[in-house]
Amino acid sequence: MNAEFHAKWSDSNTAMVENGTWKTLRHLEGPMSARTRMENRGEVVILSSNNYLGLANHPDVVAASKAGLDMYGAGTASVRFICGTFTIHRELEKALADLSGTEAALSYVSCWSANTGAIPLLASQGDVIVSDELNHASIIDGIRLSKAERRIYKHSDMKNLESKLTEARKIKGEGGSILVITDGVFSMEGDLARLPDILEIAGRFGAAVMVDDSHATGVLGPHGRGTPEHYGLEGQIDIITGTLGKALGGAAGGYVASSRAVVDALIQSSRPQIFSNALPASVAAGALEAVRLLRGDAALLARLRENTHTLRNGLKSMGFNPLEGESGIIPIIVGQTSFAIDMSAKLLDRGVFVTGFGFPVVPEGTARIRVQSSAALTKGDIEKALDAFSAVGRELGLI
Ligand SMILES: Cc1ncc(COP(=O)(O)O)c(C=O)c1O
Repeated sequence: MNAEFHAKWSDSNTAMVENGTWKTLRHLEGPMSARTRMENRGEVVILSSNNYLGLANHPDVVAASKAGLDMYGAGTASVRFICGTFTIHRELEKALADLSGTEAALSYVSCWSANTGAIPLLASQGDVIVSDELNHASIIDGIRLSKAERRIYKHSDMKNLESKLTEARKIKGEGGSILVITDGVFSMEGDLARLPDILEIAGRFGAAVMVDDSHATGVLGPHGRGTPEHYGLEGQIDIITGTLGKALGGAAGGYVASSRAVVDALIQSSRPQIFSNALPASVAAGALEAVRLLRGDAALLARLRENTHTLRNGLKSMGFNPLEGESGIIPIIVGQTSFAIDMSAKLLDRGVFVTGFGFPVVPEGTARIRVQSSAALTKGDIEKALDAFSAVGRELGLI
């Protein structure tokens, strides 16, 4: 062991504790649900998970995952093109393509892997990527891995997008493409990408559009198909990426949905596809069941919407001022990072688990409590959560 090396990391950790950015892992003793048991805390109501449809512990999803495990075992023990792929992968990918309104889809072990695997292949030397400044870290890292030129536009600023596209057109190589990339729902703000405007502007510049709909699939649109359905733009987005780790079962996994040509190219050359194992069969089977539940049980989406509405209105009526939005994310800006962390701790003392986010995740001075809704929450859970917000909000002088 190299003592100096480890001491360096220990010092770095201490600095994080001292400047208030240290993250503590909370240990849960039961499944992710509206309430669960937290070590040394007892039962807590959860407002910090992306379990939008409440499927993470749904009996049908759990049963399907177990059946997947029984049928296929743990996994392929290798890469798909080398040792084959399970038929459950094909079924899942067909269901994801149907859900996304695209010709084809391809699963990855996470959406992180999908974004960092697809972007460098689909935009490379001679191409230009034009990306929203608030895009998810996995898009940012995907762009870092790409050999394409890049231009970052101000968050949802369509004038700025247009000016970056004007630059992109000048700097792209002969035969190069321009790829505009945006989150569908921005995870820290809860706001929606302005897809109709983005598509119209991208169209004028001959650019393709990629949307990461991780926080929108299973949440937005009349049937929960995400931001394209919300805006009536199904079939018009060139590339959609998404996660299976939020509304669609909550285990893990991600996907790219696009034309057959793009998906085939990814199977051939996307590095996580050709150098890394496939999604475990149990996870694929659980996610497939989650997609089926989303499509077959309209009550899930209705409950999510009703709960989001009740939470948002409850917070507003007691004097909080959450950022407006139509997604399942309800951020309350509180200012300093230490304030958000303190508020989150006080809420947990009252049995409500909701995370505070501060610098460097969000800009200094805009630290926030991010409330996330779920179809799993009962009226009693929401009442308990709102009571805690009311007490803590008054104690901290926020309301
Ligand atoms: C917009 C967005 N993209 C991608 C990801 C990564 O998803 P996964 O957990 O499947 O890697 C997340 C997760 O936080 C996300 O919010």
